[in-house]
Amino acid sequence: MTILVTGAAGFIGANFVLDWLAQSDEPVINIDKLTYAGNLETLASLQGDARHIFVQGDIGDTELVASLLAKHQPRAVINFAAESHVDRSIHSPEDFIQTNIVGTFRLLEAVRHYWGSLPEGAKAGFRFLHVSTDEVYGSLSATDPAFTETHRYEPNSPYSASKAASDHLVRAYHHTYGLPVLTTNCSNNYGPYHFPEKLIPLMIVNALAGKALPVYGDGMQVRDWLYVKDHCSAIRRVLQAGKLGETYNVGGWNEKPNIEIVKTVCALLDELRPKADGSSYSTQISYVKDRPGHDRRYAIDASKLERELGWKPAETFESGIRKTVQWYLANPEWVAHVQSGAYREWVQTQYEAKPAG
Ligand code: NAD
Ligand code: TYD
Repeated sequence: MTILVTGAAGFIGANFVLDWLAQSDEPVINIDKLTYAGNLETLASLQGDARHIFVQGDIGDTELVASLLAKHQPRAVINFAAESHVDRSIHSPEDFIQTNIVGTFRLLEAVRHYWGSLPEGAKAGFRFLHVSTDEVYGSLSATDPAFTETHRYEPNSPYSASKAASDHLVRAYHHTYGLPVLTTNCSNNYGPYHFPEKLIPLMIVNALAGKALPVYGDGMQVRDWLYVKDHCSAIRRVLQAGKLGETYNVGGWNEKPNIEIVKTVCALLDELRPKADGSSYSTQISYVKDRPGHDRRYAIDASKLERELGWKPAETFESGIRKTVQWYLANPEWVAHVQSGAYREWVQTQYEAKPAG
């Protein structure tokens, strides 16, 4: 038995593979294009481990994907590969359309042909699990109930629109071709190996470097936060027991305004790595111009997954954020290595054009 995962040199996929192989000997084929967000150093502990086969490639390369499927005969495909950063999708949406929509379509085509050729037993057991986001549901007001799986799709950014399109394609391949699919829509993840362009790792890295902590707008936008390993356990559970064609919301019941997240990170750093001059890292907070079309609030109702499949997150926000800050303090080389030339260029385009607000 083997599984094929896509995009698992990125944040969530890599955490998934590390957790998977810590718990099982079932081999993983990992296809990742190694964009700026893909980093094989995250998987360095698997070097020489025959259970992990890495292939650099694009999910949109139908021939490559078809040959990997034919060669390794996986019982499941889990699709993590995506362009994932909202701000980048605002500056240059093209890559998001190519990977998240066209790439997912081509991957589905390759998987459909492979699945169609399997003998009956293997065909019945096969799963295609698509990893998606709560952002497809759009933005909530302060008093709206949290997103359930039946909330209508109202994506507002090129990122969320491209993910929404991919979710629809996955759904259509189930209804039209009978492909045995599962979809998970998860809230904001945080934890080890998170690329420092997203809120939490950016704040940790900037704080330690003595740089400004850029908070968009009034900092009162709300996100639900889930520790990445809890997302990984939810995916494992859905893969194991999810009902075909269903979608499952995954969330941590941890709604927090951004400014509270930033202040929590500062307080933990004040405790764990106090500044020499005795001042708090929170003095580095700087309000900057808001993100265009910034969604005000996301909130996930994960009760279907809890009720039907018995999944629960293991971490509270307090335990998860402490572990995360500790991980970044213990792994400065990982951070230094991902801060490549390409990443520095991005930070310049994103922040130097934004006057303090
Ligand atoms: P990430 O940006 O850290 O990693 C994405 C990975 O996909 C990278 O390794 C990249 O090299 C690879 N990739 C990009 N384009 C590719 C292509 N065309 N072919 C093959 N590989 C390609 O993203 P992440 O945060 O790990 O997110 C993984 C998935 O989870 C995404 O689908 C994302 O939409 C979804 N998701 C993320 C979050 C979050 O908070 N990060 C929350 C919910 C859902
Ligand atoms: P992000 O980590 O980019 O995730 P997403 O946009 O997918 O939710 O951002 C999380 C929140 O933090 C979002 O409301 C935007 C905000 N944010 C900032 O205020 N400053 C920043 O520098 C970044 C990257 C994000």
